[in-house]
Amino acid sequence: MSAAAPHSDGKPVTTLKLRDMKAAGEPIVMITAYDVASARIVDAAGVDVVLVGDSLGMVLLGYTSTLPVTMDDMVRHTAAVARGITHALLVADMPFMSYRITHEEALRNAARFLAKAGASAVKIEGGADVAPLVERMVAAGIPVMGHVGLTPQSVNVFGGYKVQARDAASALRLVEDCLVLEAAGAFAIVLELVPTEVAAIVSEELSIPTIGIGAGDGCDGQVQVFHDLLGIGDFAPRHARRYAEIGAAMTEAVTRYAADVRGGAFPGEEQLTHAEESVVAELERALPLTLEAEE
Ligand code: KIV
Repeated sequence: MSAAAPHSDGKPVTTLKLRDMKAAGEPIVMITAYDVASARIVDAAGVDVVLVGDSLGMVLLGYTSTLPVTMDDMVRHTAAVARGITHALLVADMPFMSYRITHEEALRNAARFLAKAGASAVKIEGGADVAPLVERMVAAGIPVMGHVGLTPQSVNVFGGYKVQARDAASALRLVEDCLVLEAAGAFAIVLELVPTEVAAIVSEELSIPTIGIGAGDGCDGQVQVFHDLLGIGDFAPRHARRYAEIGAAMTEAVTRYAADVRGGAFPGEEQLTHAEESVVAELERALPLTLEAEE
């Protein structure tokens, strides 16, 4: 058993369990992971939900937004994460435009995540505008997590990564969007960059859980990006708390490795594999080798 507390009942987390957790007032812990190594780490820590976020475009692939991320990128990384998960619910993010053109294409893309990559659910960005699609997906057996507030795939419409639902009219629209998503069958909704009081009201209005990121302490759960939490990379959003400085530790370790190679201290005796003396003697007898001339 790992040092951290795994899930108390030891059973894989389901969408129904998340609803029960909300009803019981038990906070839901969600985090992103993008490969088998990060998946094993977060699963061993006992998180409830692992999201293969399209944020991988920024934190892994170095894009300046999530827009260039493709279905193939997401399926490959989701499959890797699935190989490292034993308990947490695995949710795959549907990338930009993979669910906006036709419902048929959206259903085919979502099905790839469940049938081929090992996800248990998908996440899509949008409010009432995506509700008819959510309804079709759920009817087809695909659990859907909603995502409202600052939806990063619409960054060009918002004109930046800004807090949403600041005035009464847009806050009311946000509540309506969430109610429509719930009615369409979404099992949970991510609220991103929303004022604390607005997110708390939404959370009270819904019977499905809200998972906040930069949405305060009134949500039913929290989600964070793996790299932000662990201090990997320079970017530090205000809503994230850095629980470790792993990036600095990694740079320090690689710097020591480079110094050891340059100074002749690596590899050391414990990293060596020696040949039998007879093999070395035979090799030396056979040298120099004369290669037969080619015709
Ligand atoms: O892509 C992502 O990581 C996300 C979370 C920030 C919710 O959508």
